[in-house]
Amino acid sequence: MSDSLFNQQRREQPEPHEGSRPVPKIVLTVIGLLLLWAVYHLYSSFNPMPASLGDDRVAADFAVPATADGGQLYTANCVACHQATGAGVPGVFPPLSKSEWVDAKDPGVMIRILLHGIHGPLTVEGVKYNGEMPNFSKFSDEEIAALVTHVRSSFGNTASATDAKTVAQVREETKGQQEPWKGDEDLRPLLGE
Ligand code: HEC
Repeated sequence: MSDSLFNQQRREQPEPHEGSRPVPKIVLTVIGLLLLWAVYHLYSSFNPMPASLGDDRVAADFAVPATADGGQLYTANCVACHQATGAGVPGVFPPLSKSEWVDAKDPGVMIRILLHGIHGPLTVEGVKYNGEMPNFSKFSDEEIAALVTHVRSSFGNTASATDAKTVAQVREETKGQQEPWKGDEDLRPLLGE
């Protein structure tokens, strides 16, 4: 016990404790300046869609051409009755393939049928039908022309095409027609038979 209690106490280190050591002002200033620079950089270089990343197409390049597609119109409006093959349904819906009405020399016959519909007995390829053919007068001249041209050149048909101008002409000529055509009675004379 040569060491006195006093000397032992003197050699003790002070108890460690957490002091509050504030971040030096210079560091805070540098962080603040970096933040300001980052915001300024984002702001000044912001470019939502650089043209260099695109392929030079503009919105107009994606516009769908406004031409009527006869095949599409046929699928959407005629298939339910005349079938995808144009063969119709025996005894109920007449065929469009090789039909004398579709293949008539004058496309105006089919245009008249689409514009006003048919109600009354109609003979197609020697078979009598007596159903209801709806009218498609709400279709534009372009759409009727596309439909007539499509049907007259499909299902084995090889009749001539028509155009919107012809449809507009027939629409004007028959605008007095308030009711559907009365089948053979109204339409057969158009075939010139
Ligand atoms: C709801 C059923 C129905 C739909 C839909 C329909 N048709 Fe018809 N179509 C008939 C019927 C029924 C007749 C026969 C009318 C009659 O017996 O008087 C007919 C007759 C015709 C005729 C004359 C006869 C023939 O077979 O050649 C043509 C041409 C024709 N349709 C074309 C079309 C076209 C093109 C469309 C689509 C734009 C269409 N039809 C949609 C039921 C329909």
